Amino acid sequence: MRMIVLGAAAGGGFPQWNCNCSNCRRAREGDPAALPRTQSSLAVTADGKRWLLLNASPDLRQQLHATRALHPRDSLRHSPLAAVLVTNGDVDHIGGLLDLREGQPLSLYASARVHALLDGNRVFDVLDRDVVARRMLALDRTVEIADAAGEPIGLGVQAFAVPGKVALYMEEQGAALAGEAGDTVAVRLIDQARGSEAFYVPNCAHIDATLAQRLDRASVVFFDGTLFRDDEMLQAGLGAKTGRRMGHVSMSGPDGAIAGFEGLDVGRKIFVHVNNSNPALLSDSAERREVEAAGWEIAYDGMEVEA
Ligand code: MLT
Ligand code: MN
Ligand code: ZN
Repeated sequence: MRMIVLGAAAGGGFPQWNCNCSNCRRAREGDPAALPRTQSSLAVTADGKRWLLLNASPDLRQQLHATRALHPRDSLRHSPLAAVLVTNGDVDHIGGLLDLREGQPLSLYASARVHALLDGNRVFDVLDRDVVARRMLALDRTVEIADAAGEPIGLGVQAFAVPGKVALYMEEQGAALAGEAGDTVAVRLIDQARGSEAFYVPNCAHIDATLAQRLDRASVVFFDGTLFRDDEMLQAGLGAKTGRRMGHVSMSGPDGAIAGFEGLDVGRKIFVHVNNSNPALLSDSAERREVEAAGWEIAYDGMEVEA
């Protein structure tokens, strides 16, 4: 299967429009060590023709324009995008659904919890249900991804709940902060012809034994790389929340992702959903060296990965 990182940054992107932190300033100034990145999304194909979009970021229109493989090809109105899957209800993962309102047949996969959230927001009715088929993403079983007509595209997914948090705008609605199973999911992607697999885990609050066991022996894992340090937003004066409070495990520290993957046999470990405050975004930082020394890569827009 062929995978293209459409957007490697977390919500807000890099640089973030209203952020004047030194990372964002360097990105804005065109510093080659601070490559700009759009918001969180990955595209996957098994047959090279029909693609599954994993998360629809508010930058989707720009991402589609920047990605030749996703340009219209076959007829006057056409898109290689056959299906979209969203892993949670945060704006960085659903905002781009509004870009897909041009009457293009697609299927839209989400957990029951995330579908309920979309159903509760009338603005998403711009995706005409007769054209964009809403399909349930059951947890813990293999779902064969199909286009709007029901034609399988050669990809299976197994969605599973990961430790997470409810969408930011739902925090005030009385929902338990940690949410329920299905509020935050990750997926195992399966190329059904080749039998190859990859994992996509853009949000994860902590790495427990179940998750570690699941990811062990994977050939490729895209993983939540929001923050380098749990308190980096506080330290930089950018916000009042820790990574933990935002539902994101940090890269570093004894409970971090780097430590959590130690002892696991994973072919390629790639951080995605990287926040603009994260010093590992900068290719000349000590934190980047530390991440790379631990065998991790930092994703960038347009990065292509095979599995
Ligand atoms: C997150 O992952 O914490 C969210 O994307 C925050 C946001 O909605 O910007
Ligand atoms: Mn996010
Ligand atoms: Zn910034």
